[in-house]
Amino acid sequence: MSLDLSKVDMASVPRHIGLILDGNGRWANKRGLPRTAGHLAGEEALFDTVEGALELGVEWVTAYTFSTENWNRSDEEVEFLMWFNEDLLTRRRDDLHAQGVRMLFAGDMDDPRIPERNRKHMAEAEQLTGLNQALNLVFAFNYGSQREIVEATRSIANAVLAGELDLSDIDESALQKHLYIPDMPPVDLVIRSSGEHRLSNFLLWQAAYAEFYFPGILWPDFDRHALVDAVVEYQARERRFGAAEDQVQVD
Ligand code: IPE
Ligand code: IPE
Ligand code: MG
Repeated sequence: MSLDLSKVDMASVPRHIGLILDGNGRWANKRGLPRTAGHLAGEEALFDTVEGALELGVEWVTAYTFSTENWNRSDEEVEFLMWFNEDLLTRRRDDLHAQGVRMLFAGDMDDPRIPERNRKHMAEAEQLTGLNQALNLVFAFNYGSQREIVEATRSIANAVLAGELDLSDIDESALQKHLYIPDMPPVDLVIRSSGEHRLSNFLLWQAAYAEFYFPGILWPDFDRHALVDAVVEYQARERRFGAAEDQVQVD
């Protein structure tokens, strides 16, 4: 079904959308299926949403596919999610490449618990699609915002110790340069499905001025039409960035 864009102002589509894909397990439970079936259904929802983002002209989408806290799940589920994150790359890579999608990965990739095969497939996908420009699709995999900021801090400290950076030059833009993806723009809109209202360690730095949208549906029920609804709601909000109401710049 083609997208109804009649309510969308195409001149002010969010540049960067963060997706917290939540509710796969509950979706499966409701159907008497194993949690893993929910993750499989969630994959369809993610790629339908990505196609919607392409149609809307969104520049960046960051999808939270595995958090640094998700290791706390059962061995079976963690093993499935590792396999699944890797398998998804091999199955979707060529399609995404054909659509002009640049694939990127943000997370603690030095973690020895990540299987070597995942690392290899992530590197291959990043290399294959590196010059694409239609959409930057970031997989936040083994991602935790607190760890990202700690790693950035450590690398800044190293640069100071090596004499490459002056203490007085440490500011917001210096820290940004040490994040996993230095050219990632701020997040404009964070969408979290499933009715939960929390960030769960997702893009704490990047979402400083994001708008939040919490559709009550479970992630496998999300799709490109739900994305359009989110964008329409986003466009009805007034973003102030600290300015007073009557000072807000409208461009
Ligand atoms: C999100 O769905 C997917 C991942 C964490 C990978 P959940 O698995 O968290 O589903 P619920 O929240 O238990 O329903
Ligand atoms: C956040 O969902 C992580 C991902 C979507 C990958 P969780 O289901 O892990 O978050 P909590 O535990 O409910 O906060
Ligand atoms: Mg969850």
